[in-house]
Order: sequence, then structure tokens, then C-alpha cells
Amino acid sequence: MKNPIGLFDSGVGGLTVAREIMRQLPNEDLVYFGDTARVPYGSKSKNTVLKYSRQIVRFLQTKNVKAIVVACNTASALALDEIAEEIEIPIIGVVKPGAKMAVETTKTGNVGIIGTESTIKSGIYNDYIRELNSDITVVSKACPLFVPLVEEGLLEDRVTEDIVGRYLQEMKEYKVDALVLGCTHYPLIRNTIKRFMGDEVCLVNPAFETAKSLKELLMEQQLLNVNKHKPEYEYYVSDGVDKFISFADSVLPFHVLDTKVVDIESY
Ligand code: DGL
Repeated sequence: MKNPIGLFDSGVGGLTVAREIMRQLPNEDLVYFGDTARVPYGSKSKNTVLKYSRQIVRFLQTKNVKAIVVACNTASALALDEIAEEIEIPIIGVVKPGAKMAVETTKTGNVGIIGTESTIKSGIYNDYIRELNSDITVVSKACPLFVPLVEEGLLEDRVTEDIVGRYLQEMKEYKVDALVLGCTHYPLIRNTIKRFMGDEVCLVNPAFETAKSLKELLMEQQLLNVNKHKPEYEYYVSDGVDKFISFADSVLPFHVLDTKVVDIESY
């Protein structure tokens, strides 16, 4: 099916998910929405994130998307279940695929989860992991400073190393052997996290797992675009086009030319 896939995030971070989908589903058109005017979602309540997500889903549906990917971990944690009940097209988030991979990866049964305050408070990763295997011990930790560090471009920096050490020390103490990067921005500092945690700890990237799950879902529902074609990507934000484009340039392997501003409050 030719229609595009809709993808949304609280801002720029979901581009890490877009990047994986572009790699793994090269024939699919994408419509990306980043809620750059209202970011961050990671410190907001369920009601607010649900209200914002509903507006974005309504906007994406005006683009005739065939499926929606909630690229934001926080929105996946706080809004996905409700929205899935309200719309007719398939919708997936990043949490379930990440949780599933963590269960498949761990050998010791000690899994770590890091994410925004709201994602960690929701306990959703723990719930999914325990649903799959109740013997697994889950250690979770909110890492609120990681998002601004990444947005400042401090990917390989002493400050980031220091903060990684402070946040993740307890993950080492609990001897986790699988650590879920449960926030869109964290894969961008995976090298710093890896150096601190050591090679024996496997870092699970929900963005990668989500692209895999999306492919399976589209195949199952016969929505996958099987014909080879040059994909078209559209980008929309709620504010700050220039900042979005410069971040996109650091994440995507090509230059993003056209990004439009949407009055998302009107949806
Ligand atoms: N996109 C958010 C997430 O993955 C991180 C940024 C925010 O707090 O909005 O949870």
C-alpha cells in the first residue's frame, strides 16, 4: 500500500526512530511530526501527553497515513493504549519492541531500563518485561539530564561522561546485562554509555526493534510497500524549523530541506 507511515515524537529525538525505519523499510514514505513547541514530554503528566498525542494523531490522519508509529518513549508509555482504542489504523510504540528484546537478550535475568521521568514513573517497561518473564529483575532509572546534553550536541564530552557515571552506577551494582535505552535521545550517546557499562552489557535500542516490529506488522496486514521506489519524507514541527533542521542534519544521512510549521493546537 502506497500511503505514507506517520511518525511522531515530542521533538527531534524521534528522528533516531525515523532513521531506523528509513534503513529497514526503504520503500516507505514517511510523514514525521515533532512537537518542538511543547517538548519535553518526559516531565509532563499522562493527561497532557495524551491530549498532545491525540492532536498529533488527528493531524497525521489528515495526511492519509496507513499506520502510525509513536516514536516517543514517553508518549508510548502514557498515551498509546488509549489512542489504539480510538483509531482504525494500526499504531505501534517503541516500548513493547524494546521490552521484548531486553527479555530475549538477558542471560543473568537482570535488566536495566533508563528513560525520562514520566516513562520510568509509568512502570510500563517493567510491566511488559514481567508479562513476558516474571523471573526477570528490572532496575529502572530516570536520566533527565541526558536529553538536554544530547540536544546541546555534547555526545562525546566530559560532562556527559560524568553524568552517565552518576546515573548508571547503580545499574553496575545490580549487574544488569541488558540495558534498554528507553528514550529517543539515548542511542545518540550509546558510545559513552557503553564505555561506562562495559562490553558485557548489551544496550537495547528500542528504535531498531520498533522498525523491525513495524515491518512485521505491515507485512501481516498487507500494508507493506513491496514495490521499489524512491521514498518521500515530509517533516512537520510545531515550532523552531531551523533548530529542527540542524539537529536532523546530525542524525540523518542526508540534508532535510523542507520542514513546515503546523498549528497543532488547532487539531
Ligand atoms: N522523546 C522523549 C522520549 O523518548 C524524550 C524527550 C522528551 O522528554 O520529550 O521519551
